[in-house]
Amino acid sequence: MADLNVNIGDLRLKNPVMTASGTFGYGEEFEDFIDVSRIGGIIVKGTTLHKREGNPYPRMAETPAGMLNAVGLQNKGVHYFADHIYPRIKHIDTNIIVNVSGSAIEDYVETAQIINSLDKISAIELNISCPNVKEGGMAFGVTTTGAASVVNAVRKAYDKTLIVKLSPNVTDIAEIARAVEANGADSVSLINTLLGMAIDVERRKPLLSTVTGGLSGPAVKPVALRMVWQVAKAVKIPVIGMGGIMDWKDAIEFILAGASAIQIGTANFIDPTVCVKVEDGINNYLNKHKYQSIKDIIGALEI
Ligand SMILES: Cc1cc2nc3c(=O)[nH]c(=O)nc-3n(C[C@H](O)[C@H](O)[C@H](O)COP(=O)(O)O)c2cc1C
Repeated sequence: MADLNVNIGDLRLKNPVMTASGTFGYGEEFEDFIDVSRIGGIIVKGTTLHKREGNPYPRMAETPAGMLNAVGLQNKGVHYFADHIYPRIKHIDTNIIVNVSGSAIEDYVETAQIINSLDKISAIELNISCPNVKEGGMAFGVTTTGAASVVNAVRKAYDKTLIVKLSPNVTDIAEIARAVEANGADSVSLINTLLGMAIDVERRKPLLSTVTGGLSGPAVKPVALRMVWQVAKAVKIPVIGMGGIMDWKDAIEFILAGASAIQIGTANFIDPTVCVKVEDGINNYLNKHKYQSIKDIIGALEI
């Protein structure tokens, strides 16, 4: 067994496999399928200060090698999370990380403060990259000043590990990553979904109620991998890679490109046991190539 431990800020992951927000519920939904404590970190659903109903249906559509979604951060709000969901999931023996969203800086800060008081939540992932809400969300993540201001404000209010999730819907993602690092992020995660759309030609209507939505799955992997590689070269903080990871080989590609850990999203909908399979696959790869530790291959791509 190779050493699969990695560190993200003060966070210690038993292995580099995490679940991507919005694709793994609160972890408890998967307890019938796998031992969820085997996962390195569970990023729970996007959480906002106030309850959100999400967008009208239809809000999901299949595409070649991927899917479009426009869920729109449906959740019951951070107070409900703290009072009702947190007590149910805090026993899970792994890192539980809350994905925090907002439509104003004050919302992000207040939500982060409430999460800060929950002992078993070891980090937050700040979502400044959601393409599916009208106000805020992605707006913060697509300019360096927007990204810098929200990260700066949350950093002052939150003293545990702060991961910032970046949007791929930008011209220069490395520049945004540098701004986020300069304002106190402990890590960056990428990519969130790519803005896309699909049309029903018989009805001459969009497939999603919101017209546009976020593309995920294998279709986005080459773009995600390229961005992870660019960002890993641009910052010193650890990078968490995601976008279209379906198996261990995809995960190894991201790690070689510079990711210290990876997240799995859309693949959970196809196989609820995929995370443990990827962990086993990474271990087998390290053994086969006689590496002692996962750290030996982070950013080990030879150009
Ligand atoms: C149905 C669905 C819901 C999502 N909800 C969130 C969310 O609440 N917050 C967030 O930061 N990302 C959310 N995402 C984006 C994923 O966490 C991930 O960044 C993206 O899907 C790319 O990874 P993948 O190709 O492995 O799915 C969602 C994705 C999907 C498919």
